[in-house]
Amino acid sequence: MSSARFIQVDEGPLARHTALAAEAAAGLLATPASVSPKFFYDALGSRLFDAITELPEYYPTRTEAAILARHLPAIADAALGATGPRPTLVDLGAGSCAKAARLFPALQPSRYVAVDISVDYLRGVLDKLQLEHPSIQMLGVGQDFSTRLDLPADVLADPDRKGGGRSLVFYPGSSIGNFDPPAALRLLREARAVAAGGALLIGVDLLKSADILEPAYDDELGVTAAFNLNLLSHLNRLLGSNFQPRGWQHVALFNAQQSRIEMHLQARHSVDVRWPGGHRHFTAGERIHTENSAKWQPAAFESLLREAGFSSVRRFSDERGWFAVFLAS
Ligand code: AVI
Repeated sequence: MSSARFIQVDEGPLARHTALAAEAAAGLLATPASVSPKFFYDALGSRLFDAITELPEYYPTRTEAAILARHLPAIADAALGATGPRPTLVDLGAGSCAKAARLFPALQPSRYVAVDISVDYLRGVLDKLQLEHPSIQMLGVGQDFSTRLDLPADVLADPDRKGGGRSLVFYPGSSIGNFDPPAALRLLREARAVAAGGALLIGVDLLKSADILEPAYDDELGVTAAFNLNLLSHLNRLLGSNFQPRGWQHVALFNAQQSRIEMHLQARHSVDVRWPGGHRHFTAGERIHTENSAKWQPAAFESLLREAGFSSVRRFSDERGWFAVFLAS
């Protein structure tokens, strides 16, 4: 029986920690202060995000799952038309790998490549999945693709020469919305290079009324507020800073001009934040920008896919037109 393989593409843990700490400190010192949303996802942040996906107000996860379930035969047909039978399924931001595993019966991939920022998180998940699907070769890849998606050549090569089709790159959850448009274009181009003549299956949250969008990012139970505030505890561990989350307030607002939800942390009173090698004074009401979540018009996202070099684009959506899954090849 084959066992899952794992590689961490970036530098070792110490260099990675130093680079992340430097990136976070630079963001805190910028004007206005901003910290990348990737800093949400420490162990607690990942659990809080899972809880968000269960909230009645947060519609994207369940809407995307319903689209994929309903249109799976047509999606698989079109995807396999581009990749050939038994594709390599490349899962970006794989996490628990649950979304990709739901595609296995229809796609029958020969290989499954799960990519996430830390390979350690993937180990337990992928070992278990490999036992359940012994005929699929599984590979866990640790790479922070928020800066660059660049899988080593041997990741996509087939070590056992079992054959199989080209790659289907899967990027669900509308995580593409957390990139600004130029960075989204860069990632789509890189995804196209990884697909290498295959296809991309990507979930995208669509533009809708602020009355629906804002509660999705500012829920009644305060789970999204805890998710946002937890970033400060994560920074305290990463940087050795002295943030007191109680002194900060969660802010989520729809920016209609930029067509995006913005999340910020707003200082409740003036405060000096210190960490080894740096400090910053925040006045009362000053904000740290923690996330953008773009909400696309379907035609605008289709244009972006074409600009990234995809020539055939199909869109699958829900009845309300709240979310779309694009298959691009
Ligand atoms: C991961 N990402 C697509 C989520 C989003 O909707 O932008 C993160 C999130 N932030 C607050 N709630 C969920």
